[in-house]
Amino acid sequence: MIVIVGGIKGGSGKSTLATNLTVIRALEGRRVLLVDADEQRSASDWAEHRESLGITTPWTTISLNGAGVRAQLLKMVNDYDDIIVDTGGRDTTSQRSALTVADVFLAPFQPRSLDVWTAGKVVSLVEEIRSVNPKLRAYAIINRADSQGVDNQDAAEILKESEGIEYLPTSIGQRKAFANAAAEGLGIIELKTQDKKAITEIRQLSVAVFSN
Ligand SMILES: Nc1ncnc2c1ncn2[C@@H]1O[C@H](COP(=O)(O)OP(=O)(O)OP(=O)(O)O)[C@@H](O)[C@H]1O
Ligand SMILES: [Mg+2]
Repeated sequence: MIVIVGGIKGGSGKSTLATNLTVIRALEGRRVLLVDADEQRSASDWAEHRESLGITTPWTTISLNGAGVRAQLLKMVNDYDDIIVDTGGRDTTSQRSALTVADVFLAPFQPRSLDVWTAGKVVSLVEEIRSVNPKLRAYAIINRADSQGVDNQDAAEILKESEGIEYLPTSIGQRKAFANAAAEGLGIIELKTQDKKAITEIRQLSVAVFSN
């Protein structure tokens, strides 16, 4: 399955979710390829940091960019169970190219107006891509959800109204464990001090994304 973690807004948590889903799936024994399609190289930096610390890394990480991403993914699709693509913080050629061969588009949104107001543009992007890739399933989730207040609910209402994209109620809360894990080259499920709520949330997301 090819999963693109994307959207058109920076800082929504794409790299955080892509790397954590990679760890979960790889530790479940799946053959996983993590593709860094962002020139910023966050996912690659994280993977290199991990390797430099000598931590077992049972998956492959590569960088791909530009319009050729589609052809490269097609070449590798049969060699892996899961291909997880981390994209840059805007509407890039790489993201569009990857989406044309993807099974799933996972778009995280922070529960903030400037973030969820981009949902309309994500809907248009999905519509365009479906004209060449009708099988594409598109999901929106809230990442960095507040522990209280009405902003999560307000954001969820906007995302639920976004046609052609399914809103997944498996939100990911704002949790320090994600930053702590990244700094150590880990996924949150590997942290010594376990954040049980965060782990439950990311595992639920993994099930939702990879079922079907
Ligand atoms: N659920 C979360 N809880 C706490 N911090 C988070 C969470 N998700 C992401 N972050 C933090 O938010 C920042 C941005 O996350 P990340 O780099 O994953 O976003 P991105 O969408 O990949 O950004 P870019 O568009 O620049 O590629 C990072 O410092 C990350 O640690
Ligand atoms: Mg990123």
